[in-house]
Amino acid sequence: MINPHGGKLINRYVDDNTKKELTEKAGSLPKINLDDKNISDLEMIASGAMSPLTGFMKQNDYNSVVENMRLSNGLVWSIPITLAVDEQKANELKSAGQAGLYDENGNLLAVMDVEDVYQYDKEKEAEKVFRTKEGEHPGVAYVYAQGNFLVGGNIYMLQKPKHENFLEFRLDPAETRAKFEENGWETIVAFQTRNPIHRAHEYLQKCALEIVDGLLIHPLVGRTKSDDISAEIRMKSYLVLMEKYYPKNRTLLSVFPAAMRYGGPREAIFHALVRKNYGCTHFIVGRDHAGVGNYYGTYDAQHIFKEFSHEDLDITPLFFEHAFYCTECGNMASAKTCPHDASSHIFLSGTKVREMLRKGERPPREFSRPEVADVLIEGMKGK
Ligand code: ADX
Repeated sequence: MINPHGGKLINRYVDDNTKKELTEKAGSLPKINLDDKNISDLEMIASGAMSPLTGFMKQNDYNSVVENMRLSNGLVWSIPITLAVDEQKANELKSAGQAGLYDENGNLLAVMDVEDVYQYDKEKEAEKVFRTKEGEHPGVAYVYAQGNFLVGGNIYMLQKPKHENFLEFRLDPAETRAKFEENGWETIVAFQTRNPIHRAHEYLQKCALEIVDGLLIHPLVGRTKSDDISAEIRMKSYLVLMEKYYPKNRTLLSVFPAAMRYGGPREAIFHALVRKNYGCTHFIVGRDHAGVGNYYGTYDAQHIFKEFSHEDLDITPLFFEHAFYCTECGNMASAKTCPHDASSHIFLSGTKVREMLRKGERPPREFSRPEVADVLIEGMKGK
């Protein structure tokens, strides 16, 4: 089994005695209310998905990640994992020592050590992490909208965040690792997605599955842009697809609780490292991975991997060019395998596909499996 990033799978859940003690103590601690993205991060730190992180980033790690894509100890880490608060809360926290972390319904999820309260340069973070300062970029917009201070320190997780959906698909890294072992898989490729799986996605996964033992379909179900298809509809579409077209003994579907940052290249590195923590040895990076609008070049998220050695990342990226169905070849292909020109290639833009689905029309079966199209048409009714 592949080692987690940094060598050890972190687990920040506390035992029952500590839970009781901290719950009592939290009554007299300052409160921090978390949004959905903070809760995703918290859950992933606690479960070890973000190993080696043990809490929200302190200033030295934050600066080092923003500047150099490394933690202050030199380990690669490409995305700041931070907890922002406003000035008033920052002042309250400065002398507090610890704070309670609450969900929107007032449930106490964790206690954190307040080791560091610091100011940061939002524009610099935007430029370095997202490669743009434009506030229209959804990841940048989130940074600009959040508080002007960051709080860093270890977390102590008291309970799992309350989830209402996909309960049997919420496997933590220790659980996916156990499944892989149970299945006897030594090499596992992870597929990140925030979209329904169309034929191009399926092609990438199956090309990869030809060379590894198992496939982890790992759809992101944390916060996404409002015009992305909801996780509920997507999950239904993955299930009908897997039922009919995937080898059951070589495929595992589990959800990835992260929020989307739309950080393109830097997010691709983050997505890969985190999948290593879930036990995967390989990671698929196709066209415009984690991209949005025209902020990144089609293959920028692949090029960034050249900045690191294999020892740095340990997980093996599998790069794929833009895939399509070619009517001349009679199969899925890419420019690497198909000699025909674009007139033979079935290409539909995301906008076009959404328009068809909204009208109740199935895109061609060379683009999307009919079972998937039907789930999406049903899901989009009334939207
Ligand atoms: S992402 O934001 O999660 O990356 P998406 O769900 O669209 O978005 O993509 C999932 C993975 O499939 C990414 O690695 C992406 O690069 C890849 N991908 C999507 N469409 C294609 C395509 N037509 N050809 C090659 N790779 C693709």
